[in-house]
This record gives sequence, C-alpha cells and structure tokens, in this order.
Amino acid sequence: MPTDDALTPTGSAGGLGQALRPTRATPAQTGGVPDYLKDTYTWAYLSPWGVRLFDHPFVVRAILWGNYDRLKRAACEEIEPGWSVLQTACVYGDLSANLADRIGPSGSLDIVDVAPIQVQHCREKLAGRTNAQVECADARDIAGRGPYDAVCCFFLLHEVPEDLKSAIVPAVIDRVKPGGRAVFVDYHRPGLWHPLRPLMRLVFALLEPFAVTLWRREIVSYLPARSDIEVRKSTFFGGLYQKVVVTRRGG
Ligand SMILES: C[S@@+](CC[C@H](N)C(=O)[O-])C[C@H]1O[C@@H](n2cnc3c(N)ncnc32)[C@H](O)[C@@H]1O
Repeated sequence: MPTDDALTPTGSAGGLGQALRPTRATPAQTGGVPDYLKDTYTWAYLSPWGVRLFDHPFVVRAILWGNYDRLKRAACEEIEPGWSVLQTACVYGDLSANLADRIGPSGSLDIVDVAPIQVQHCREKLAGRTNAQVECADARDIAGRGPYDAVCCFFLLHEVPEDLKSAIVPAVIDRVKPGGRAVFVDYHRPGLWHPLRPLMRLVFALLEPFAVTLWRREIVSYLPARSDIEVRKSTFFGGLYQKVVVTRRGG
C-alpha cells in the first residue's frame, strides 16, 4: 500500500511523534484531515500502529492517570435512555459503546470523526449495534445534523487550535435541542500543589500544544454570550480534569 511521507509529524509539536517516525499513514486514512492533526497527532490517531497501541485498555487508562472510567461515567450519567446523542470525535476505549448502552435500543448515537482511520476503527468496535452510526466529518461542520438531546465532546477541545475551539464549542451548543445538554469533558488547570502539574506542563509542551489554553480559559469562554443556557462545571482528580455541562433552556 502506498504511504505518504508528508504525513509524518513535523514542527515543534512533534516531540514523541518525531521519536516514533516509523509511523506511517496512508492517504486513504488521512484524506481531508486538517493539517494540525497531521502535524501534531499522526503518531496517536492517524497511523495503524498508533490506533493499535493507544486503544489498548491499559494505555487508555494510563494516559488519564487511572481516571478514564470515572470521566466516562461522568459523561454517561448526563445522558438519558432513549436520547439522540452526537459524539463529536472517536475516543479510544469503550466510551462510545457505553453511550450506546446508556441510550438503549430506542436511542440513537451519531459519531463523527475527521480521520477516516478512526471512523473505520470505531465502526469495527461498534459492529452489530443498531443504535450507533459513525461518519467522517469535522466537528466544526455539524450544522446540518440533529438537533440532539445531547452532544458529547470528550477530550476533543484540548487537541485543536484556538480557532477551532472557538468554532466547535458554539457548533456543539447549536446542535442541542432546547432542554438538552452539551457535555464537555477535558483537561483543566490543576491546583498549584498538584504533583502532576509540572509533568503535565511538559507533556503539553512536547506533545499536546493546544491543551494548555484549557488551563487558562473556561470552556464557555469559547461561546459568544447567550442567555438561553445554564452552565454546570465539576472538576476531578485535583482539578486536572473537568466536566462542563451546558443545558439549553426551554423544551
Ligand atoms: C476526541 S480526541 C480523544 C482523545 C483521547 N486521548 C482518547 O482517545 O481517549 C481524538 C480524536 O479526535 C479526532 N479529531 C481531531 N480533530 C477533529 C475535528 N476537528 N473533528 C472531528 N474529529 C476530530 C481525531 O481524529 C481523533 O480520533
């Protein structure tokens, strides 16, 4: 199969990516993928090698310092049986399967991801389920979809540049029905005393260059002021993670 050398990680953000240069992704796996994702995250999301490694249950849990199940539960508990739900990007681990279980046979889960290889992988993980479908699309370009009872944005924002955060957050809220919820789970600034604070700063500097702004900005600050929403925020693990639930009034 042909490979595309131009898709190997480049630039200052490619720390571990540079070390993992054997990574290869074919054009079919990366077609239409935005540059920030190719440049920064080929090693994690766009190579078959990365998909196999990072979707291992041990790795999924280790990356979130043992908090994956807790954060996944925190997202799922905002969703009710029978709901229509949009998940704005594929996620390693079994979040999507858990969301599909949570909504049950009368619910419907749409998942979009901008990377064809992730779409294919997620379809394989959800094979046999009749209440979930996965499509290739950009999370900032979801205007024609839904509206949904809930939109779940799990660890996507920290991976995208600022202009995309500013496009994705309003796009997500816009797809929520009155009375429905947008659920964002992502990084958050830990307390000053947090023992992992220096290490996470280093990880962000080397590998996740778009994450650190979530230490400085509230997720709702990416949303133009509006009066028809209520915001609820909780933090986890000494503040390193957050869940922000935006409920649209009415309905
Ligand atoms: C949601 S994050 C998940 C991170 C987390 N480490 C995990 O997997 O548990 C990774 C996914 O976001 C996708 N992605 C990145 N930018 C996107 C965008 N603009 N629209 C849709 N999906 C996007 C990537 O292709 C990748 O599959």
